[in-house]
Amino acid sequence: MTVDAKISLSGIKPTHIPHWGNYFGMIRPAVELAQTCDTFYFIADYHALTSPRSAEDNRLFTYQTAATLIAAGMDPQKTVLWRQSDVPEVLELTWMLNCVTGYGLMERAHSFKDARAKDKDVNFGVVSYPALMAADILLYDSDLVPVGKDQTQHLEMTRDMVGYFNQQYLGSTCHDDEGRWDGRGLKRPEAVVHEATGVVQGMDGRKMSKSYDNHIPIFGPKKALKKRVMSIVTDSTPLEDPKDPDSCNVFALYKLFSSKEEQDALAERYRGGNYGYGHAKLELFEKSQAYFGPKQERFDALMADQDGLEDVLQAGAKKARTVAQRVLRRARQAMGLPDRLPFPGA
Ligand code: TRP
Repeated sequence: MTVDAKISLSGIKPTHIPHWGNYFGMIRPAVELAQTCDTFYFIADYHALTSPRSAEDNRLFTYQTAATLIAAGMDPQKTVLWRQSDVPEVLELTWMLNCVTGYGLMERAHSFKDARAKDKDVNFGVVSYPALMAADILLYDSDLVPVGKDQTQHLEMTRDMVGYFNQQYLGSTCHDDEGRWDGRGLKRPEAVVHEATGVVQGMDGRKMSKSYDNHIPIFGPKKALKKRVMSIVTDSTPLEDPKDPDSCNVFALYKLFSSKEEQDALAERYRGGNYGYGHAKLELFEKSQAYFGPKQERFDALMADQDGLEDVLQAGAKKARTVAQRVLRRARQAMGLPDRLPFPGA
């Protein structure tokens, strides 16, 4: 690791096979950041437990998510890549943060409000979700956290929790006016939101999300992927008529894979008439295949060797724990807990 490179950290929840929204919103920016930063990335399998899923799916989605990151270009030799639940230190820091954070703040989290709107009796993991996420970030003294727009509030809450912790136990924010950290307590991170692609729209124009079932997976059988692309929602403008690229879901997704010139050329075909949405969908499908096809081969190879994938994750967890234990010890000292490593065996 380079000495003064910034630490960039992010997590991805293994709740489904990753889709285009995950790729352009989080995975690609994360892979790019890995070229200039010391990077820490993990599969947030503890977070995934806040929504019910079978044990089999929990396992499968964790492997698929890890394989996707590696297939997308994340190099586990350079990036510390691990499974969240292999580093139990994160749970102790979560508890510490739970105890410096007011219930009122937790209740204001969008993630809590959304879950509450769907189901009054949300589990307590949902309430404490922002503290677990803050612990993920703070446990590694992270500087930068690449996330999609929907996560910026969690990042604000993380910064608040740093303030509560440092004020309560060290009587200071431990940061100067420029945000420079003095090395005590917890370090305040910053969000990095990829503006252009922070929100990728789905097949129906709403935000791409597994829960809306408007997502297109990155990897999968060609036929199934094509079927998803061909089902993107469009209006009923007749084939002959000119069409408006700017209000078209297919065009919006095409932009993800194409240059400005290619977009202008497609816009012209839209406006010229005698060009149907079916044609545009096929062009989009071809583009997405050209982009993800070579990565798909890598993904398939990784999924075919789950022991190998497991070894990669274990090796990453080992590296992550070295840092995690150092930071947790600092937090324990600050709070007056015994100054020792609570979980042996890293
Ligand atoms: N909550 C994030 C999401 O739903 C995933 C996540 C968990 C995360 N821990 C994190 C992201 C820490 C960044 C940093 O997308």
